[in-house]
Amino acid sequence: MSTAEFVVVANRLPVDRGADGEWNRSPGGLVAALEPVMQRADGAWVGWAGQPDLDIEPFEFDGMLLVPVPLSAEDIELYYEGMSNDTFWPLYHDVISPPRYRRVWWEAYVAVNRRFAEAAATAVSDGGTVWVQDYQLQLVPQMLRELRPDLTIGYFHHIPFPAYGLYSQLPWRRQVLEGLMGADVIGFQRVADAGNFTRSIRRLFHYETRASGISVPQADGTTRVALAKAFPISIDADAYIELAQRPDVQARALEIRESLGNPKKILLGVDRLDYTKGIRHRMKAFGELLQDGRINVEDVTLVQVASPSRERVDAYMQLRDEIELTVGRINGDYDTMGHTAIRYLHQGYPREEMVALYLAADVMLVTALRDGMNLVAKEYVAARIDNRGTLVLSEFAGAADELGMALRINPHDIGALKNTIMRAIEMPGAEQGRRMRALRRKVIENDVDAWSRSFLSALASVRSRRTDAKGTTKGSA
Ligand code: G6P
Repeated sequence: MSTAEFVVVANRLPVDRGADGEWNRSPGGLVAALEPVMQRADGAWVGWAGQPDLDIEPFEFDGMLLVPVPLSAEDIELYYEGMSNDTFWPLYHDVISPPRYRRVWWEAYVAVNRRFAEAAATAVSDGGTVWVQDYQLQLVPQMLRELRPDLTIGYFHHIPFPAYGLYSQLPWRRQVLEGLMGADVIGFQRVADAGNFTRSIRRLFHYETRASGISVPQADGTTRVALAKAFPISIDADAYIELAQRPDVQARALEIRESLGNPKKILLGVDRLDYTKGIRHRMKAFGELLQDGRINVEDVTLVQVASPSRERVDAYMQLRDEIELTVGRINGDYDTMGHTAIRYLHQGYPREEMVALYLAADVMLVTALRDGMNLVAKEYVAARIDNRGTLVLSEFAGAADELGMALRINPHDIGALKNTIMRAIEMPGAEQGRRMRALRRKVIENDVDAWSRSFLSALASVRSRRTDAKGTTKGSA
């Protein structure tokens, strides 16, 4: 196999296999962000193809080399559903759902991380760069460094990193930090996440930290400085703007309003069906507003898109039951023949349809209890080329750090959430415009391309420092 100078390692490959057996690019923004780098560097992407036991050879797709890592049904159960999504996911999202600590899951996580590290080590050329993505692969940086000390290694953590008081519950807390410290640059969404990580390192290892640098002692007695810093991720804003400008997408937005019975105001929630998203809190507030008579079903509709996710994990099955019970109750109490209180859609949609929905929605509700970033908030803002619409945004979503002109809420405070929803519904056009313009400026300036450039340039400076240091050693020898 030919090798690549630049390799991305992520749990999932950036493609899905359709029913016809054809590969299609998956909707996520990461692949769009990395595409230019991939093309320039003849890049490769190492990841799982999304189905059990699919053992296929590396293949070319859109100018990238895709290197599949097969996962058996057992790997999926123990490494993906178990350790990744029933231990790390709830623990890192402030134990909203109780994490389960099972030794067999951990053993599978170590074994699968090793396979990803080995696949990356085979795919990358001498002195190349590897960028590891997210919590499913936290051990890969150090494993890779041991296999290939010549590499420059980056890691980006897409989800929150919790406070030490919570993180310390993890029986394997030292091993995970050691895994991450194998990277030269460890990127987080928020400054607070980077701070939590650095504090955990200090508590457990007593390593010296200065600004964003952590001095990691090496086996040969020297130290290596790893950088732990915030690089807030974003979206391909131009792609959303282009879609929002398309006449067919705008016509679809009108059609959506029409099919909901032309309510005066449409509220919108768009989430993976996940307990971190605060969907129940949002529905509780909405249901109480109907009950209090502050809104009525003819005038205001809530559209909730909840895309199916991790459906074999218990906590997700339970959540689905709870949400669907809540929707049924609210609709049963308030629907009329012509109007529905909540239009609930347990489906995923293509990007065009999402942009049409964003254009149709007067108020976007992002009520996450904890969220690494929340790209839906940024997508809504990018799509509002008319500078209208109001974003209600949880302070517990990473996006709140940048999107200061949104209406900020604490989703646990149902009374305040209700008042903020009313304020959004009643917000005059001039104020909507003032806020939306400021929000749009932020999202357009800090798009996903800026994100990947800033991470990769931090990585490149580590690399050039290392080359310089080598040069000096050689020169003085
Ligand atoms: C979050 C994670 C990603 C993950 C995505 C979808 O955004 O940070 O790493 O890919 O959710 O979840 P899934 O389990 O379907 O990959």
